[in-house]
Amino acid sequence: MTRLLLGVTLERICKAVLLLCLLHFVIIMILYFDVYAQHLDFFSRFNARNGSRAHPFSNSSRPNGTAASYGAAGAEPPSASARPGANHSSTEKPLQPCQEVPPGLVGRLLIEFSSPMSMERVQRENPDVRRGGKYSPQDCVPRQKVAILIPFRHREHHLKYWLHYLHPILRRQKVAYGIYIINQFGEDTFNRAKLLNVGFLEALKDDEEYDCFIFSDVDLIPMDDRNLYRCYEQPRHFAVGMDKFGFRLPYAGYFGGVSGLSKSQFLKINGFPNEYWGWGGEDDDIFNRISLNGMKVSRPDIRIGRYRMIKHERDKHNEPNPQRFTKIQNTKMTMKRDGISSLQYRVVEVSRQPLYTNVTVEIGRPPPRLARG
Ligand SMILES: *[C@@H]1O[C@H](CO)[C@@H](O)[C@H](O)[C@H]1NC(C)=O
Ligand SMILES: *[C@@H]1O[C@H](CO)[C@@H](O)[C@H](O)[C@H]1NC(C)=O
Ligand SMILES: *[C@@H]1O[C@H](CO)[C@@H](O)[C@H](O)[C@H]1NC(C)=O
Ligand SMILES: *[C@@H]1O[C@H](CO)[C@@H](O)[C@H](O)[C@H]1NC(C)=O
Ligand SMILES: *[C@@H]1O[C@H](CO)[C@@H](O)[C@H](O)[C@H]1NC(C)=O
Repeated sequence: MTRLLLGVTLERICKAVLLLCLLHFVIIMILYFDVYAQHLDFFSRFNARNGSRAHPFSNSSRPNGTAASYGAAGAEPPSASARPGANHSSTEKPLQPCQEVPPGLVGRLLIEFSSPMSMERVQRENPDVRRGGKYSPQDCVPRQKVAILIPFRHREHHLKYWLHYLHPILRRQKVAYGIYIINQFGEDTFNRAKLLNVGFLEALKDDEEYDCFIFSDVDLIPMDDRNLYRCYEQPRHFAVGMDKFGFRLPYAGYFGGVSGLSKSQFLKINGFPNEYWGWGGEDDDIFNRISLNGMKVSRPDIRIGRYRMIKHERDKHNEPNPQRFTKIQNTKMTMKRDGISSLQYRVVEVSRQPLYTNVTVEIGRPPPRLARG
């Protein structure tokens, strides 16, 4: 009798579990299609035509909403400057400083690299970006002027996606900014940190008002616009969680990918090292410089500091630098003499493109004993 009862109970439990599984599966499928709807051409066309049905993460709905809200706010609340002809000198309020937390942020973003991308498209999407990749909010006075520096060589494909995603994000973040790619001339070994030193000086030559410098690899896209690209009390590390590291910080002293220093923070550490040729080590050296100068790296919350990396083969002429491990032991000694104070380079060309400024520079080559590395 009890066995029968047990059997029945078991059967019921099994059914309940089965039902739960089914429910779970259905919910997962709904979420899955919701998130990936845009991957499918069928859905994306549907979304584009029919804005009201678009997924909340899709660009066609919310960013447009925010764009409209500050596009309209460009003309301030109803009272000011909107009506033509009238002279509002009495009612015209002076522009307020931009809010500490910009109101038009949308949070988590869907980032993907499968849809085709072209410079023309990105240009169409960003009509208010000025030549050279500059932008400044119209409806408030930005608190910082940020130069975004991208060490670069042969990554045109990535640049398109970077610009496509970052211009709208930066616009929503309400800072004045300029985008500079620092393009290493020739085919000698790549030197990321030295290019960034060059970027610092060249951006200031272009506009001496820059007070914040953000150093970003071209293949890293933030997945959340609450990760604010600006400078902080302490040097900032933005790329806390990359997809390739399972969205976790690979080690406590990691400072790679995307980082930012104010002008004074950058000068305090004598800029970046010029002697790291090839891949790796320079970011650890920079981290050491920061610690040795009594500063502490600040980071966004791990849930916000998430990044997607555009997949690629390792670049030619950017092989891992075998000397990187010994070099980072010596930051304390090398920091004073190697840095922005000892930087040498030759500008090949500065060209202002619609969405970025292209600074092509010759930065030399590694000393001969390293050349084989
Ligand atoms: C959106 O879809 C509805 C039906 O789902 C349709 O009636 C409406 O015309 C569509 N709007 C646009 C702009 O296509
Ligand atoms: C989203 O769409 C708006 C216009 O609807 C455009 O200005 C903006 O650049 C787009 N943003 C992204 C991330 O595609
Ligand atoms: C997006 O906003 C712009 C103005 O900011 C408007 O012209 C356009 O029609 C809007 N698009 C959609 C899909 O709502
Ligand atoms: C508006 O005011 C400015 C001075 O603030 C003056 O120069 C201009 O002539 C005025 N325009 C009209 C249409 O009254
Ligand atoms: C930058 O300028 C250099 C030199 O003119 C050119 O070779 C390179 O293709 C340009 N790169 C980009 C991304 O504009």
